[in-house]
Amino acid sequence: MNERASTLPKPIYLDYHATTPTDPRVASIVLRHMTEEFGNPSSIDHVFGDEAENAVFQATKQVSQLIGSLPKEVIFTSGATESINLVLQNSVLTGKIFKVAILPTEHKAVLDTCTVLSKKGLAEITFLKVDSQAQLDLDHLDKICSEGIDLLSVMAANNEVGTIYPIQQVGEIAQQYGIPFLCDGSQAVGKIPINFEEWGITFLAISGHKFYAPKGVGALVIKQGQRLEPLMYGGGHQRGIRPGTLNVPGIVGLGEACCLRSLEMTEDEVRISCLRDRLQTLLQEGIPNLVVNGDVDNRLAGNLHISIPGIPNSAVIARVRHQLAISTGSACSSGVEAPSHVLTAMNLSPEVIEGALRIGLGKFTTDQEVDRAAEILISAVHQILKALHSS
Ligand SMILES: Cc1ncc(COP(=O)(O)O)c(C=O)c1O
Repeated sequence: MNERASTLPKPIYLDYHATTPTDPRVASIVLRHMTEEFGNPSSIDHVFGDEAENAVFQATKQVSQLIGSLPKEVIFTSGATESINLVLQNSVLTGKIFKVAILPTEHKAVLDTCTVLSKKGLAEITFLKVDSQAQLDLDHLDKICSEGIDLLSVMAANNEVGTIYPIQQVGEIAQQYGIPFLCDGSQAVGKIPINFEEWGITFLAISGHKFYAPKGVGALVIKQGQRLEPLMYGGGHQRGIRPGTLNVPGIVGLGEACCLRSLEMTEDEVRISCLRDRLQTLLQEGIPNLVVNGDVDNRLAGNLHISIPGIPNSAVIARVRHQLAISTGSACSSGVEAPSHVLTAMNLSPEVIEGALRIGLGKFTTDQEVDRAAEILISAVHQILKALHSS
């Protein structure tokens, strides 16, 4: 371990889009299902198995209550990446080239899967239009759907700039043309209301670790009547769609996190958006030419995506990384940082892209942390400006 990192106090965590801490109430239930109620739901010959089976069924109910589906429409997976792959990789099984329309601002779980399928000659990708706030052009979406596609993929909320997409309207258009609709709900489920049944969603991908459940557990909600072939074989669990011994502690944790979100989401998100607005105001006061990215009227409560033109984000991160956990949002492959595909799709200027920083607030963020984060960031920016001017 980096020696410096181990001796310093923990930085303030403001990267809730990357992952959230597990809620201690969820963690205690997870622990109980690892140490005491540890049965395998497939063990039909004793009470340990019965108990586990009941716990899994309870979790399907808790998930379905949060997102407005039927319990039997919920399949547990290792997370949203797997859920998305299950849907996209199924689409090519028809044997003909599969036409998919996606947002250019989708997560790599969608983009990379579609790209691989397209490179293999199995899929044809159409990119939907987004504007400078990452917002979707619904007229263009309608046109693309009217021309005939096999699947539509639109995320519910963006993981970088926090833009919330009009999923209900997207679902209506998809239904009008009879097109299956995959919605990546990773950043939205547990943060904003979602109604799977009423909004015309065919497949909804859910990631537990984005809303205070543990990592490595998620779900795919599959509209009743839709058939999916498994990506793996063995055991026939979960109607054969996703075989393998169920991750009962994770599943029960996901269920409990959904239950807590159902009860607390509205109140929590109002408080989080007040904290975000306070941080935004403090930063705007302290950093005169600060730019706020995304659709500020339709964004996740915990999202604050800023750019400081003229100051590379890497310079800010280098100065604050031991005090503040925030993100540039850039992907790093083979040691070379690539500019964010989301900001590129929004057609933002290279200066704005280079200076972009994603700040993610959540349930456990405090007033004091917000005030201190603003001080740290403002001071870092002023130090960098001073250094730039004296060089
Ligand atoms: C929008 C979005 N989709 C998909 C994923 C992948 O989720 P998971 O980590 O559960 O595979 C993430 C995680 O970063 C995300 O933000």
